[in-house]
Amino acid sequence: MGSLHENDKKYILNLYNRLNLEVERAEGVYLYDKDNNKYLDMYSGISVNNLGYDKGIAKAIKNQVDKYIHLSNYFVSEPTVNLAKLLVDNSFASKVYFSNSGTEANEGALKLCRKYGRSINEDKVEILSALNSFHGRTCGGLTLTGQEKYQKDFKPLLSGVNYFEFNNIESLRECVSENTCAVFLEVIQGEGGIVEVSQEFINEVVKLSKIYNFLIVIDEIQTGIGRSGDLFAFEKYNFTPDVVTLAKSIGGGLPLGAILVSERLEEVLKIGDHGSTFGGNPVACAAGEFVLDKVVNTNLLDEVREKSKYILDELQKLKKDFPTLIKEIRGRGMMIGVDVGESAIAIRDNAMNNNLLLNVTNKTVIRLLPPLCISYNEINEFLEKFRDILSKI
Ligand SMILES: Cc1ncc(COP(=O)(O)O)c(C=O)c1O
Repeated sequence: MGSLHENDKKYILNLYNRLNLEVERAEGVYLYDKDNNKYLDMYSGISVNNLGYDKGIAKAIKNQVDKYIHLSNYFVSEPTVNLAKLLVDNSFASKVYFSNSGTEANEGALKLCRKYGRSINEDKVEILSALNSFHGRTCGGLTLTGQEKYQKDFKPLLSGVNYFEFNNIESLRECVSENTCAVFLEVIQGEGGIVEVSQEFINEVVKLSKIYNFLIVIDEIQTGIGRSGDLFAFEKYNFTPDVVTLAKSIGGGLPLGAILVSERLEEVLKIGDHGSTFGGNPVACAAGEFVLDKVVNTNLLDEVREKSKYILDELQKLKKDFPTLIKEIRGRGMMIGVDVGESAIAIRDNAMNNNLLLNVTNKTVIRLLPPLCISYNEINEFLEKFRDILSKI
């Protein structure tokens, strides 16, 4: 027979470092194993479960499942239209395209940018992306992902993509030309270790976009739908992007991605230029509608900002008490990185033994992505456990 973990290894391609935990059920901000041990979840499915394990999402899904699960994109579908309207009503965008994942949203955005560029001049198809960025694993997404470690075994990737140093204005200037059709950017690099873009850098991107007539594509796949304390993380900066890509939390736990497009780009992609069998599937959109409604029509984001300040203040106190262990604290909203250098894995493992689930990214960064609805009591539980673990490292 074998255990679940043994069979997982036996039957599924071994591409992930599985945690030594079998989850039986989930509620609020906790995961429970078969013996009803509860674990405080600071992963949120890597920024997917923004409302935590909310029974309302399951209800919205069940409602839609009872009507129909799938039709195909030859048919209009109410939850899909409702979600698109919610996105448009609450953003700069005038229209939305739905995909199934983040990498696919970026693939679609890349195609849109190239078609836009080509409509100006045949060579205007070059795309710029940041080093240390993360934009997905399919060939287009992987090309946009400016990290050699992910790309090296899969070359040749797409041609016509160049990389600038994140937050380095000179480096960006060196890459830009008349043939640039788009710059892709995360305003908070997530997988790259929770690193925020500077206002000065954004100002330069905007300035250059006007001179060279390229599109600004903001990847909000990890940062979007309230994670940063605003509906979109780019809102903190003084600019409006041309395109925003979404995924992760937008489907409430079901596979869904989206491309938000500004009015002047509405007509770039025409019937037949792009598409997907499952993109915008009604069940995922029903879940997304429930999530987005909660994020935009309640005071959830005010609370996120207040609680985030509390967490950041308390983490700064911890940094004072553990100055050699904690190198830096970064981020905002419920997207916080604690750089602990080489101790990251030991801290993660120790936390797990204390029923606290911590994610590590970029080798040295504890990436805190709790559900947006985490309460002060639960935050204090995290802080107490975290302090206790740090004192033992
Ligand atoms: C910023 C960003 N872009 C794109 C992706 C890829 O999304 P997906 O895994 O849904 O393809 C991720 C996933 O971690 C991400 O964080």
